[in-house]
Amino acid sequence: MLVMGRLVTRLERLTVIDDIADRARTLVRAATRSQRVRDVLHGVWLGHPLHPALVQAPLGAWMSAAVLDVLPGQQAAATTLVAVGNASAVPAAMAGANDWASLSREQRRVGLVHAAANTVALTLYGVSLAARLRGRHTVGRRLGYLGLTVAGASAYLGGHLSYALGAGVNQTVPSLWLMRGTWQRVGDVDEFSEGQPTVRKLGETPVLVYREDDRFTVMLERCAHHNGPLGDGKIVEIDGWPCVVCPWHGSTFRLSDGLVVHGPAANDQITLRTRVVDGRLEASPV
Ligand code: FES
Repeated sequence: MLVMGRLVTRLERLTVIDDIADRARTLVRAATRSQRVRDVLHGVWLGHPLHPALVQAPLGAWMSAAVLDVLPGQQAAATTLVAVGNASAVPAAMAGANDWASLSREQRRVGLVHAAANTVALTLYGVSLAARLRGRHTVGRRLGYLGLTVAGASAYLGGHLSYALGAGVNQTVPSLWLMRGTWQRVGDVDEFSEGQPTVRKLGETPVLVYREDDRFTVMLERCAHHNGPLGDGKIVEIDGWPCVVCPWHGSTFRLSDGLVVHGPAANDQITLRTRVVDGRLEASPV
């Protein structure tokens, strides 16, 4: 594990692949010009990144095929599973590429190798399927095992991207843990103008306060995607709802409840409970 960790750390610093990554990113951006397509692939509609959910299908099918491959008389079932795995790898790759285009440079380096390894795995499984369909099951089986090995190594990189580099996770959750106590004073009600988001701090945590009539929203000010400053974001109206657009990558959140409207963030922006006591606005993380 130590060796793998060192290898991946080197990968994060592998500046020589930045050129390729930049070109690949331009291609991905060109292929996903439509905001609607990008949002679907990010998982905005799901409230959760779509890619990790989709990868279960190819990996599950390929692993099941590998088990059937060691059992006698299961060639047809294994061939079907390989075909299912190959077909389901395509939408998983599309969702992954769409997420990848909005990652940081270090994350993109690891993500590029992750994508390249997945391409190799899918190619091996493609040739494996062709061999199986021609009745050459021994060749198909061997290629399948090779493909599964590459896919496994690639899954390690995918795990590293999420769990070590924080790709695809809600970046704002740790700031909730830093907030002490329950109800905290945000400010006097009169300090907040209607329809004009204002940044305040609760302890060390910046929050965005939005007032509409006598209703208040207090949401974490740092964007769920990569901690961009929502306080510097543009205010737009979408479907009649005032929303804030993150200045870094354009994630858009409804100001009244933090609902994510456009990605790359797939999570809603965290909002706090609010109450007004003696003309003072208070907020609580729990
Ligand atoms: S930091 Fe990326 S969209 Fe906000």
